[in-house]
Amino acid sequence: MLIALGVTGGIGAYKAVEVCRGLQKHGHDVVAVMTRSAARFVGPVTFEAITRRPVITSQWKPGINTRLRAERSDEASTEPWRSRGDIEHIAIADGIALLLVAPCTANVIGKFANGIADDFLTSLYLATRAPVLLAPAMNSNMLAHEAVQRNLQVLAARGVGFVEPGEGYLACGWIGKGRLAEPPEIVSAAVRALAPADSLLRGRRVLVTAGPTYEDIDPVRYIGNRSSGRMGFALAAEARRRGARVTLVAGPTRLAPPAADEIVRVRSAAEMHAAVLGGAEGADVVIMAAAVADYTPADPASHKVSKQDGPLTLTLERTPDILAELGRARPRRASGSPILVGFAAETADVIPRAREKRTRKGLDLIVANDVSRADAGFDVGTNVVTVIGDERQREVPLQSKERVAAAILDEVEDLLRARAAAPARA
Ligand code: PMT
Repeated sequence: MLIALGVTGGIGAYKAVEVCRGLQKHGHDVVAVMTRSAARFVGPVTFEAITRRPVITSQWKPGINTRLRAERSDEASTEPWRSRGDIEHIAIADGIALLLVAPCTANVIGKFANGIADDFLTSLYLATRAPVLLAPAMNSNMLAHEAVQRNLQVLAARGVGFVEPGEGYLACGWIGKGRLAEPPEIVSAAVRALAPADSLLRGRRVLVTAGPTYEDIDPVRYIGNRSSGRMGFALAAEARRRGARVTLVAGPTRLAPPAADEIVRVRSAAEMHAAVLGGAEGADVVIMAAAVADYTPADPASHKVSKQDGPLTLTLERTPDILAELGRARPRRASGSPILVGFAAETADVIPRAREKRTRKGLDLIVANDVSRADAGFDVGTNVVTVIGDERQREVPLQSKERVAAAILDEVEDLLRARAAAPARA
């Protein structure tokens, strides 16, 4: 989706660069709109380079925007607003899914609240029907001032969203409330604001596990597996995109995790067990895409094991089956139990084995994953799965893990819908 990132003249303007990157990591396109004073804090070229789009700095002067437009006339043809001169704010207003302003100064808040349109950004605010999200940043006395507070209330009453400023050391040397929220917080709020209004995951708590576990043999060796975390990360990102509050429990992976409301890093199956059981309290949905070790060394050595003549025997013991434990606990939970979704990584008899696992572990859904294929399963960007429920089975053909995650969450939403409808039928 295309997001207009408004940047106004505050010391926090440099953080908007990180916000921009964060939005891109979530798969969004960003067009930066800078006020004149913002351009004194951070050069527009920085945003040009990151967004790979012309940066809009003025309502009237073509300047850098037009030059870039001319250079990229091929792109311009697919985006009408690039070639429409001084009515760009109208064309962009129609094309964006969100107007995010970070940092947003008291001045711009005042203009938005009072309908003053004296530059591109303030005109865009009036022209767009997209949701608007502001991350205010200013001196703490300015923030507390009645005039600013009244303007904020006016905007809130119009449905404008806010990312609360933080407390701390301010550029003016004061300590207090008014500091621009941190970029990951702003990105999270933007992603939530973009969530489809009709998603049943909006506002729900979803716990996702991802990646492998490492079971230590000694301080330098471990038993692990080839899980990259991609499948779980895609699920976490998609759940977040749909407006869920996501806790991601991630094993050791080289990939950077997507933004989540909480990320718990674990190493071993025992650590994952503790994190999931703690996080599942109050969760609406638990999805375990992690490849959890079934066995762990019974007696890990505290010093590096030296080599010896002849073979070495390792005694392994079972790890706790996390999903099965959650499944067993369900009937005892007073409040509504979470929807439990497991994966079954199999190389033969995939569907029958997955069905058996679903029943044995007491799951609502199991995602049968044929990991014998080179283009599916461990450490590749694509997957092909079958989602199996009580009375349903959905084949999800080969596609990116992001799209597979969307298909799995569609199934979860169907279950949530069915649950919501159940008491009404009774
Ligand atoms: O991370 P990627 O590179 O993207 O790869 C994705 C994947 C192949 C790891 C993923 O799609 C997948 O199939 N994950 C499940 C792997 C697995 O451990 O499957 P399993 O059949 O052994 O376990 C069945 C289910 O029980 C799983 O949901 C697992 O998380 C869970 N489990 C397993 C063992 C254990 N001790 N506790 C558990 O809860």
